[in-house]
Amino acid sequence: EKGGFEHFMLKEIFEQPEVVHDVMRGRVRLDEGWLRLGGIADYLDRLKQAKRIVICACGTSWHAALLGEYLIEEFARIPVEVDYASEFRYRNPLVGVEDVVIVISQSGETADTLAALRTAKEKGAMVMGICNVVGSTIARETVCGMYTHAGPEIGVASTKAFTAQVAMLYMLALSLSKGRTMSDSEITLHLRELSEIPEKVARILELDSQIKLIAERFKDAKNFLYLGRGFNFPVALEGALKLKEISYIHAEGYPAAEMKHGPIALIDEDMPVIILATRDNTYAKILSNIEEVRSRKGRVIAIASEGDTEVSRLTEEVIYIPQASGPITPLLTVVPLQLLAYHIATLRGCNVDRPRNLAKSVTVE
Ligand code: M6R
Repeated sequence: EKGGFEHFMLKEIFEQPEVVHDVMRGRVRLDEGWLRLGGIADYLDRLKQAKRIVICACGTSWHAALLGEYLIEEFARIPVEVDYASEFRYRNPLVGVEDVVIVISQSGETADTLAALRTAKEKGAMVMGICNVVGSTIARETVCGMYTHAGPEIGVASTKAFTAQVAMLYMLALSLSKGRTMSDSEITLHLRELSEIPEKVARILELDSQIKLIAERFKDAKNFLYLGRGFNFPVALEGALKLKEISYIHAEGYPAAEMKHGPIALIDEDMPVIILATRDNTYAKILSNIEEVRSRKGRVIAIASEGDTEVSRLTEEVIYIPQASGPITPLLTVVPLQLLAYHIATLRGCNVDRPRNLAKSVTVE
C-alpha cells in the first residue's frame, strides 16, 4: 500500500508530479487561455465582483491560503484577507454579503474551519470551499467549490494536498483575472508554466539523495530558521512547520527582511538557516540576507535556481531547482523542504507518518 516507499509521507511527496497533473485535468487546455473550473462556473461572476475575498484555514492549508492571497491580488487585483479559522470564528469578523469567504481544508472536517464557514454564512457572505476529501462536511456546507483530487493523504504531515491546493489557487486566480486584468494570451502563458510543473517537480525528486546527505549533516541541530520573500515567504512557513511536526526540532519561518527585527539575534554557528533564493524580483535582497547570516557564522542551506552562480559563491550547501517565474515558484521550492524534513526526521528515528500529539484531522478545537 505504500507503493514500495518506506513511509506514506515519502510516497505522497513522490506523487506530487501526478497530483499537479490531476488537479489540472479537465480544467485546463493549453490554448487561448482555456480554463474551466466546473465547481464554481455558475458563481464566477459573483466571485469576480466580490468587494473582498477572505480565506480561512488552519495549518498547512493556511499557508496555501496565504499563497492564495498573493496570487489573487497579483493576478486578479481583488483584495484578499487571510485569517486563521480559529481567530476568524471568535472575533466577530467584519464580513457580509459583498464578501466571498473561501475555506481551504484537506480533510474537509477541521472543526475551526467548519465553524469559520458557518460564521461567514450566517453573516451573509458567499462561501466557497477547496477540499480534498469528496463529500466531506465542509464540501457539503459550502455553496460552491473545487476538489483538489490529490487522492487520500495518509501521512499526518500534509504534502501533496498542499501542492494541489496551491495549484488550485493558481488556477482560481487566473480564472478571476480572465476578461478583467489579463489577456487570454497572458493566461495561456501562465497555464503553460503550470503544465510544466509536474516535470520540474519530478526533476527535484531526483535530488532526494543529495537532500538526504544534507539532512545527515544537519540532523542534530536544535533549531532551524527558514527565510523567504514574496511568494517564497509562505513556503518558508510551510518548510518550518514540516520540520517541527515530524522531527520535533524547533523551527521558525520568517519573511527574510524581518530577520533584522529580531531573529538575527539567534544566529550563530549552531543555527542552520534555510534560505529560499530563487531568481525573482527579490533576488538581490535575498543575497544580502545570505551574507548577513554568513557574517554571523550561521550555516546556510540555500534553495536556488539552476544556472545560478551567485548563491554558491556565498554558501556551500545549495539545492538547485528548475527555473520558474515568481508566482509559480512555491510549487517547486516546497518540495526540497518536504524532503529535508522527511530525512531529518527519519534519521532521528521519528515516526514520520504518525508524529506524536498530532491527528490527521483536527475535528475538535
Ligand atoms: O484537513 P485540513 O487541511 O483542514 O487540516 C489543517 C491542519 O490541521 C493541517 O494542515 C496540519 O497543519 C497538518 N498536520 C500540516 O502538515
